[in-house]
Amino acid sequence: MMAARDPHRYVNELGDAEAARLVDRLESRAKDSVFTRLIDKYAQALAFAPGTRIVEVGCGTGATLRRLVRRDDFRGVALGIDHSQKFIAAAKGFAAQEGSAGRVDFRVGDAHRLEIPDGTFDIVIAHTLISHVEDPAVVLREMARIARPGGRAVVFDGDYASMTFAHPDHAFGARMDAALVAASFNNPRIMRDLPALMPRLGLTLESAWGDAVTEIGEGRYFPSFAETYAPFVVKAGLSGSDAVAAWLAHQRAALAQGTFFAACVYYTFIAQRAS
Ligand SMILES: C[S@@+](CC[C@H](N)C(=O)[O-])C[C@H]1O[C@@H](n2cnc3c(N)ncnc32)[C@H](O)[C@@H]1O
Repeated sequence: MMAARDPHRYVNELGDAEAARLVDRLESRAKDSVFTRLIDKYAQALAFAPGTRIVEVGCGTGATLRRLVRRDDFRGVALGIDHSQKFIAAAKGFAAQEGSAGRVDFRVGDAHRLEIPDGTFDIVIAHTLISHVEDPAVVLREMARIARPGGRAVVFDGDYASMTFAHPDHAFGARMDAALVAASFNNPRIMRDLPALMPRLGLTLESAWGDAVTEIGEGRYFPSFAETYAPFVVKAGLSGSDAVAAWLAHQRAALAQGTFFAACVYYTFIAQRAS
């Protein structure tokens, strides 16, 4: 059996079709109101000052960062960094199409070793990055390092150990929940560690909150997640293709019948770099 390999951690090993599926998912997710309200909630809390310098580490196609720079209250400069050349190329293309290329730049880089001088940014964001990386503590330390003293680090991610889809066979449903999480996330429980981890890495917690994302009866966000990531369950050998196909068929039927149910808790942590 092949070991589970988080597709975002190992994005550079994916074929063109798999990478394209992730590009589509990242773009559709960032437009979904289920998600935009969570981005807008922390953007509101950040209250961008004019000239703010922000960097998003693990920016993917730039979907979140592009949303932030389009805000009326954002009059600063933004940089997105990702270790996928394909995602960065897509990010630059989308920014050019939207006419925001002058406000946001993108470059390839590894979140564990950022080639950025200490204290460069006012705000450093990791938006659904930390659940995927090889070493979350190293990434958080890098985020603290490149924030200016008194600057802020924002870590937003799912507590993916809480992610669940309904299935009438509870034991099968629980196995599929666990397989989907194992196939998709390197660190599904990391958000629970942040209150203890952040202070050890020079980050003082300013505020934190959780949002339950639920889709009941109808759904868009979780069905798209299931369609995108279920193939990775099969690829990892965590379940057979027939079982995964049967599970997906159930989710599609539940959607068609208005009986769909899925949920996950997302958390936002805003911390300050010690002066
Ligand atoms: C779920 S996506 C989130 C993308 C983006 N933040 C968004 O909200 O649309 C996770 C991203 O983290 C990137 N990533 C994972 N490990 C990384 C690393 N070590 N360095 C840089 N980027 C990384 C992946 O390539 C992917 O783009």
